[in-house]
Amino acid sequence: MSQPDFFSADQAVIEATLEKLLPAESTPPATIHQAMRYSVFAGGKRIRPVLCYESARIFSQQLDAAATVGCALEFIHTYSLIHDDLPALDNDDLRRGKPTCHKKFGVAMAILAGDALLTLSFETLANANVPPDRRVRIIAEIGRAAGTVNGMVGGQVADVQAEGKPVDAAALEYIHRSKTAALIRASVVAGALAGGAPDQDVARLGRFGEAIGWAFQVVDDLLDVEESSAALGKTAGKDQAQKKATYPALFGIEKSRAFAQELAARAHRELDCYGDRAAHLRQLADYLVVRRA
Ligand code: FPP
Ligand code: MG
Repeated sequence: MSQPDFFSADQAVIEATLEKLLPAESTPPATIHQAMRYSVFAGGKRIRPVLCYESARIFSQQLDAAATVGCALEFIHTYSLIHDDLPALDNDDLRRGKPTCHKKFGVAMAILAGDALLTLSFETLANANVPPDRRVRIIAEIGRAAGTVNGMVGGQVADVQAEGKPVDAAALEYIHRSKTAALIRASVVAGALAGGAPDQDVARLGRFGEAIGWAFQVVDDLLDVEESSAALGKTAGKDQAQKKATYPALFGIEKSRAFAQELAARAHRELDCYGDRAAHLRQLADYLVVRRA
């Protein structure tokens, strides 16, 4: 299955919005803006912004604000990749088929580019064209998802500390749900909030996002085993080399694939009540599980 057909139209909206939100390369101090733009425009799939955008579409036809919120999520995602690739963390030279930010701009500038993208994300959210009560809820959701308690940084800490050690299913679940699923869940929730969804729907979409976010990292583990570096645009086979806690390492390939499918089915069930309005989100859920990069 290739990308769903609406995906490239959504990506074009996101690219244009990112372009508007990021300072120009020539804005002083120019080096940091070059580094930020280098990594943001290195060819990411824009999955989190597209999920945010399509989640808002269930509830609204006015999607500009959801695009802006989606870009704020992409800034956080890009910061996390830049920092994850640093020598002190996963120490990688290749990302999105290009030299990593620190390879191109040096470690100091890569640290600062990550810091700057995280900061720009919250500035962007604070200025988004969403009613103030909902805007504050979006900021809180995304802040929590990127943070230390069941959030991305917390998951990253557990991931680093689990390297080379035996982990059980509960520890692995914590890592995946925190490191990856939390921000994906927040993308869907933030889209629902930007689209004006009632609380019950925000909660339902949160459960959808949690399931696909978890499935996304299980599939990411599988791709690291099954695909080449050329296909992934990053160093393949690295999890095993670094003795990472992954689903294939603990359960094997077949069980991990079946688990990703089960999570996708769980996600689908949350959308049943929306009928055709959730057609795009359903296609995205399927795509995230069958993707090859
Ligand atoms: C690939 O996303 C990214 C992941 C599977 C998430 C991994 C989690 C981290 C690296 C957390 C790091 C956290 C800190 C605090 C350093 P993708 O396939 O959407 O990538 P793309 O944007 O290149 O398409
Ligand atoms: Mg990592």
